[in-house]
Amino acid sequence: MATTLSIGLLSSFSLFAAQEVPVSPPGVKQVQNSDIARGEYLAIAADCAACHTNPATKRTFAGGYPIHSPMGVIYSTNITPSKQFGIGNYTEHQFEQAVRHGIRADGGHLYPAMPYASYAGLSDEDVHALYLYFMHDVQPQEGATPETALSFPFNIRQMMWGWNLLFLKNGAFQPDSSQSDAWNRGKYLVDNLEHCGECHTPRNMMMAQMQGKDALTGAALGSWYAPNLTADNLGNWTRDQLKQYLKTGDVPGKAQAAGPMAEAVTNSLQYLHDDDIDAIITYLKALPASLQAQPNKSIDKNGTDTNVDSQIRSTQPLGSHLPDNLSGATLYDTACSSCHQPDGKGSADHFYPSLTNNSATGGSSPNNLVSTILFGVEREVNGKQVLMPAFGPGSQVQSLSDQQIATLSNFVFHQYGNPALQVTPEQVESLRTGGDQPLLTRIAAPATLGAGVVAILIVLLLSLRALRKRRQDH
Ligand code: HEC
Ligand code: HEC
Ligand code: HEC
Repeated sequence: MATTLSIGLLSSFSLFAAQEVPVSPPGVKQVQNSDIARGEYLAIAADCAACHTNPATKRTFAGGYPIHSPMGVIYSTNITPSKQFGIGNYTEHQFEQAVRHGIRADGGHLYPAMPYASYAGLSDEDVHALYLYFMHDVQPQEGATPETALSFPFNIRQMMWGWNLLFLKNGAFQPDSSQSDAWNRGKYLVDNLEHCGECHTPRNMMMAQMQGKDALTGAALGSWYAPNLTADNLGNWTRDQLKQYLKTGDVPGKAQAAGPMAEAVTNSLQYLHDDDIDAIITYLKALPASLQAQPNKSIDKNGTDTNVDSQIRSTQPLGSHLPDNLSGATLYDTACSSCHQPDGKGSADHFYPSLTNNSATGGSSPNNLVSTILFGVEREVNGKQVLMPAFGPGSQVQSLSDQQIATLSNFVFHQYGNPALQVTPEQVESLRTGGDQPLLTRIAAPATLGAGVVAILIVLLLSLRALRKRRQDH
């Protein structure tokens, strides 16, 4: 995905620039190739491709990626410079309005499936560089994307005006002069450009990110759980471990990135410059513990002192029909122990990670173990693929039932992870069905957004009426 600047494009662009602005007035900057390159870096950091490139068609930035919500499917749009289908006619001002304020060129409001609430803090220079990159170095892609047609009343885009009024913080990020440059850069990356909070921050009733001490304290994300990033959870990670996680998604003895985090590492984080990764870590390390009611138990204490067999106990032939009443140990030996080993300690070279001292088995939420079993692990770093097969629907290896996954997960939590965690087959079923909402179940997840928007609308209409009435009365 890290398209390097193509020489051909660049030279044709220089031609274009030469024709457009034959003589640049004094003080007006020429479009610099370095600005375009910076724009490309910013687009990778902001992971615009995550939503605007449909993995089914792989046409970069051509849109059409379906984001499922209870109100219907929201399709990402074509943001290539195609004049007919994309944003080729957008002025820089219109682009800025879309990215930072969620308003399209035709004045229509975007749904927050486009994370403009995070991008609102982008600096003017960064919006400018992004614009140059999209206009001059992205290949136009022709072809319409499906129309987003939500059911009433969500098809009234104007409703987002009320949501924005309540929750959109306008104005570019303002550095805090009492903090270091690295901290400020880190905060900008975490809150705005990399929008970590879109996944890691819990949401209020209206699906807006919670602020203050609740920020980054962990949130369910469809089938997955994005863990707490404050000192409660990351306090015993070293800076080097965090760096290794963000750049590769794998820290033996701590965690592996699967699901949406694997996407963030694959498409965005591995390409960040070291000083940006260091800045992110400086900011995360400075986050105070969130003092949640149930602090996460240190995963380092899990699974290490349980006395687990290092011998295979009993197996069933894979690929056959497995009865629902198999024990957790048999399911584990059948489906998992060839890679993760009977004692759960993984392979000596850590390629198959240990399930003890692992945040997916020892954290505070069962989601990531269950979803790893259902959907597997898929990540690509430095051109190398990391793959764990899925055991959910359509598995190439063995599709396990909700009952089997619950039994197996409870065995794994008990033997190798946090024994306080328990899952039921019903929970597995719900995680299974949340799973085809890849990234942004966040805007969508519960019906609360629906109820919330209607509530805002009613409140706004009532207050407008009250206002008007007051005016008439006077
Ligand atoms: C998490 C998903 C996601 C990410 C990341 C994302 N977008 Fe979007 N974007 C969307 C969706 C969905 C829409 C359409 C929303 C709608 O129709 O209300 C959209 C709409 C837009 C539009 C409006 C285009 C039009 O005319 O309809 C622009 C411009 C845009 N995005 C630019 C960007 C840029 C630039 C980035 C990276 C800095 C980016 N987006 C990152 C999901 C995303
Ligand atoms: C698209 C959603 C998404 C985004 C964006 C995202 N994360 Fe994550 N993150 C997750 C999920 C889900 C997990 C759990 C992955 C797993 O265990 O397989 C995770 C795991 C992590 C972990 C490991 C925590 C642990 O206890 O195992 C760290 C650290 C982390 N993310 C940091 C970040 C930072 C920093 C950013 C922004 C630069 C970020 N994430 C952006 C979804 C996301
Ligand atoms: C073919 C080998 C293989 C099999 C079989 C296998 N795994 Fe994995 N597993 C992997 C690999 C590879 C990874 C990813 C390592 C990485 O991310 O660097 C992984 C990662 C994991 C993780 C960490 C994911 C996260 O989100 O943190 C868990 C938990 C896990 N496996 C559990 C299981 C369970 C339970 C089974 C049995 C149903 C199983 N695995 C079967 C190879 C396997």
